[in-house]
Amino acid sequence: MCVLQLTIMSLRIIIVLAVFTGVTGSPSVTVRPEADSVYVTAHPNSVPETGEETGFFGKLEVLVEDETEEDMMATGELNPNHYPAQRAAKVVQHYLNTRYGSPYRLLGLQRVHSGNAEDVEDSGRKYQLEISVQEMIGNTTEKCSAEVLFPRGEGQRSPQVQASCEQLLKVNNTAQEEALYKLFKTNQSLLSAQNLPDSYGHIEPDMKPLWHLSIVASSAVMLNESTENTLYNMAQVANITQLATENDQVKFDCHVLLHEMVSQEIIHWKLLFTWSPPEGVKVLQMEQLPHCHDCEKPPNTN
Ligand SMILES: *[C@@H]1O[C@H](CO)[C@@H](O)[C@H](O)[C@H]1NC(C)=O
Ligand SMILES: *[C@@H]1O[C@H](CO)[C@@H](O)[C@H](O)[C@H]1NC(C)=O
Ligand SMILES: *[C@@H]1O[C@H](CO)[C@@H](O)[C@H](O)[C@H]1NC(C)=O
Ligand SMILES: *[C@@H]1O[C@H](CO)[C@@H](O)[C@H](O)[C@H]1NC(C)=O
Ligand SMILES: *[C@@H]1O[C@H](CO)[C@@H](O)[C@H](O)[C@H]1NC(C)=O
Repeated sequence: MCVLQLTIMSLRIIIVLAVFTGVTGSPSVTVRPEADSVYVTAHPNSVPETGEETGFFGKLEVLVEDETEEDMMATGELNPNHYPAQRAAKVVQHYLNTRYGSPYRLLGLQRVHSGNAEDVEDSGRKYQLEISVQEMIGNTTEKCSAEVLFPRGEGQRSPQVQASCEQLLKVNNTAQEEALYKLFKTNQSLLSAQNLPDSYGHIEPDMKPLWHLSIVASSAVMLNESTENTLYNMAQVANITQLATENDQVKFDCHVLLHEMVSQEIIHWKLLFTWSPPEGVKVLQMEQLPHCHDCEKPPNTN
C-alpha cells in the first residue's frame, strides 16, 4: 500500500508534524508506517528529524478543516494557521529555494503572519501573504511579503509567485560554494549517495551538500506541481549520482521522494540537474515515476 493512512478522529484535527512536539489533549493524526519510504518505518508516528533541516518536515502545525469547509475555498482574510494560507505559503518556500537556494542556502517556511485570498476574474485565485522564512543552514529568520497566483482553467499551470525578502541575499556564501564546486570538479571519482537521510534520519556531513542541492532541485518540481490543494515537502533522496560533464557545470541525476501531505502520498521523481556557483541549480529534466512502483511489498506489515 502506497498511501499513508490518516486516521481522522474528529472533524477538526491538528496535524503536528514536529517530532518532539507531542500536543497533549489534542486529537491527532496517525501516520502508519506502511509507505514505501524507509524512514517512515523508523519513525512510525512522526515525520523524521534531520538535523538542521528539521523545519522542512517538522515544526509545521496546520489545522485541517473538515471536508465541506475544505471544498469551499476561503476568501478574504485567512487564518494564518489553517491549510489555505499554509499551502500558499509553502509554495513561496519552494519558489524562494528555486530562485535563491544553494548548497549553503536553504529556505524553510517558519510562520505565516497573515494571509488574504481573492478570486481573480478568469485567471485564478490570488493569495497575499506576510510570512517568516528561516534560512536553515545559517539559522537566520526574516520576513517576506509574497503573492501567489494559482491559475485556473484548462491545462493546469504552475502557480506564479512574487516575493520580496530584504535580507535574503546578504549572507555571502561565495567562498564556500567555490570550494565545494572545486571538490566536485577535481575529485577523481564521481560522487554518489543513497538514502539521504537514512532510516535513522541521519546524513553524513560529507553528503549534506548533495542533500541540499537535491532539495533545491526538488523545489522546482514542488513549485511546478503545487496547487491550492497540495502541500509538498521533500522527504528523501533515494539516490543521487554525479555525472561527467564537459562544460563548467556539475551535473547530477537523482531520484527523490516527495511527500504530498494532503493526500499523504509519497511521490517519486527522477531529476537531472546542474549546479555551478554563478548559475545556481538548473533542473534539466523532471520525470514523475510510476505511482508506487517499488512498494508492492510494504515493510513492517503487521
Ligand atoms: C536557531 O535560532 C533560534 C533563535 O535565534 C534558536 O532558538 C534556535 O535554537 C536555533 N536553531 C538551531 C538549530 O541552531
Ligand atoms: C511544469 O509543469 C507543466 C505542467 O503543469 C509542464 O508542462 C512543464 O513542463 C513543467 N515544467 C518543467 C520544467 O518540467
Ligand atoms: C562575496 O564574497 C566574494 C569573496 O569571497 C567576493 O568576491 C564577492 O564580491 C562577494 N559578493 C557579494 C555579493 O558581496
Ligand atoms: C572523492 O570521491 C570519493 C568517492 O566518491 C570519496 O570517497 C571522497 O571522499 C571524495 N573526496 C573528497 C575530498 O571529497
Ligand atoms: C534509485 O532508487 C530508486 C528507488 O529506490 C530505485 O528504483 C532505483 O533503481 C535507484 N537507482 C539507482 C541508480 O540506484
